[in-house]
Amino acid sequence: MRILSLATVFLFWLSSYGAGLAPIQETPDSPGADRSSGFLTDAEGQPLPLERYEEIVHFLNTAQVVSSKEIGDGVTGARKVLLEKDGLRVNAVFRNVRINESRTLPTGTQVAFRDDYIFECAAYELSRLLGLDNIPPTVEREIQGQKGSLQLWIEGGVTETDRRDQGYPLLDEETLRLHWQVMLVFDNLIFNDDRNRGNYLYDQKGKLWMIDHTRSFRTDEELPYPSGILYSEHRLWEGLQKLESAVMRTHLQKYLGPSELESLIKRKDRLVEYIQEMIAERGEEDVLFSF
Ligand SMILES: Nc1ncnc2c1ncn2[C@@H]1O[C@H](COP(=O)(O)OP(=O)(O)OP(=O)(O)O)[C@@H](O)[C@H]1O
Ligand SMILES: [Mg+2]
Repeated sequence: MRILSLATVFLFWLSSYGAGLAPIQETPDSPGADRSSGFLTDAEGQPLPLERYEEIVHFLNTAQVVSSKEIGDGVTGARKVLLEKDGLRVNAVFRNVRINESRTLPTGTQVAFRDDYIFECAAYELSRLLGLDNIPPTVEREIQGQKGSLQLWIEGGVTETDRRDQGYPLLDEETLRLHWQVMLVFDNLIFNDDRNRGNYLYDQKGKLWMIDHTRSFRTDEELPYPSGILYSEHRLWEGLQKLESAVMRTHLQKYLGPSELESLIKRKDRLVEYIQEMIAERGEEDVLFSF
């Protein structure tokens, strides 16, 4: 497959602007692998003895909180939390941001602004419905009287900012671009306009993980960055085509409001049309790829 230079589109895309407890369940509707192909460890750096996502989700829901500290470079109060259960110690990130307000643009226009931990749970569950395995397992949990999202910490993760500063030998430029294409399809789907360089990271086995989706799920029905989409990962394309609106409603209505959910479904349909058109123009061999 020919790889075009994605740098320009990607840079444009990267210059981004910026309930009640609902237990996440891994269900037969989740078509992807039930375990991660990435490098997951406990807090001491030992391979995580919990293999299936279902087990990690159960651990996140039930482990005791040992300690918690603010994450240095975050601006929304995200905290790194040490969890323990049956002698196993694992780090996680707890986000409890909940902002829902109207903001004034420099032009004077008023726009709705939402930054909400619940979208973290929605993004994880949606990723599983699509067969993706690259959002760290995430649950909704109450910690010290505050509701928030609790997400597995990827030990030794190298953010895109770090990769640019320090390098990262495990993925070559071409493979990186393909990983970014997966992320771009997902961000168009969830209308994520906050994919800055601190919001995705690479683990020690060469896997890209998507984090921080608290500013997603806008109510626009149009795709935000379709022109950057040039390719699609094979299984993601299948997942998108198979994902039924009824399944999305069943799984996501506990996190999303009606207009967030219905506009997500519209964007899913648009994304399918968009990729379908690319395939009609260029052929499957040029558009679809597998890792
Ligand atoms: N699941 C995770 N695994 C490993 N590291 C993480 C994880 N979640 C967050 N981090 C680290 O913590 C940093 C801040 O987290 P996050 O992006 O969620 O906070 P934030 O307050 O929203 O920051 P910002 O507004 O700058 O994006 C990330 O850039 C990353 O380095
Ligand atoms: Mg962030």
